[in-house]
Amino acid sequence: MRIRKAIIPIAGKGTRFLPATKEIAKEIIPIINVPMIHYIVKEACEAGIDQVIFVTASGKFAVEDYFDRNQELEAFLERNNKLKELELIRQIGSMVNVTSVRQKEQLGLGHAVLCARSMIGDEPFAVLLGDDIVINKNPAIKQLMDLSLKHQGASVIGVMEVPKDQTSKYGIVKGEIVDEKTLRMTGMVEKPKPEDAPTNLATPGRYILTPEIFDILETIPRGAGNEYQLTDAINVLCQRKDVFAYKFEGERFDTGSIPGYLDATIDFALKDPAIRATFMASLKYRLNKYGLTL
Ligand code: UTP
Repeated sequence: MRIRKAIIPIAGKGTRFLPATKEIAKEIIPIINVPMIHYIVKEACEAGIDQVIFVTASGKFAVEDYFDRNQELEAFLERNNKLKELELIRQIGSMVNVTSVRQKEQLGLGHAVLCARSMIGDEPFAVLLGDDIVINKNPAIKQLMDLSLKHQGASVIGVMEVPKDQTSKYGIVKGEIVDEKTLRMTGMVEKPKPEDAPTNLATPGRYILTPEIFDILETIPRGAGNEYQLTDAINVLCQRKDVFAYKFEGERFDTGSIPGYLDATIDFALKDPAIRATFMASLKYRLNKYGLTL
């Protein structure tokens, strides 16, 4: 069965980006001039997803508006003969079919996914976190979709290798090796100390899940941080069904954190030929101004 729908949870409070997130959604904060959520939705679209379901909360309307048409702006750009910008704005407005559901209380990622249950029905679906950007020609979520299809629509969790001393920052998977990129999962451990970590494979926010996960999410108790954790539900799913972990190809930026956000900004500036030279000149000037060397 083709995977057609993607849930993108964006209801979190974004406390690491306060004070900006006091008034604006974290996902609308741009990397240079493109909101981070643009990259996530683009990845889903390029993978062939035709419906995106945002799990939202109050104050997040800008994300839905961003993917809607803005007739007033289009008319303005047309009147002023700004045709390149007009084309760009129109493309964004017709990128994908967007719907949204509200998460009325921020009870965790597991709870956010459960809020979208009625929009999914009885089919496997994708989940992409709204603040994890992965750059690759073949979209990361498409790589997971392809593996899922190969295994009759099984669940697939995207993983990446992390240095052993950083396992305590992530959910870490365990399982049996299928091939150099794939594990048949037996479970997940949340933020283990390096000495307790079963592998160094972390889960940075790309999932293909089967609808059984919803029944599990209905029954699990609150976990770490007193929140309903998707990790806990995946652990149960592993006991009932085939769940694979797949080392996807691509460069991942944790844009939900300030260091990851800065890293993405620097990378995107350096790879853009239109701003690279100016950026490098400014960097050189600023390093010199503060007496710093690289
Ligand atoms: P994070 O753990 O990054 O939380 O959530 P956050 O609220 O976005 O940010 P911080 O940690 O306070 O700075 C991971 C993803 O899950 C969503 C978030 O929007 C983010 O995309 N989420 C989290 C929800 O949709 N609902 C929740 O209750 C919790």
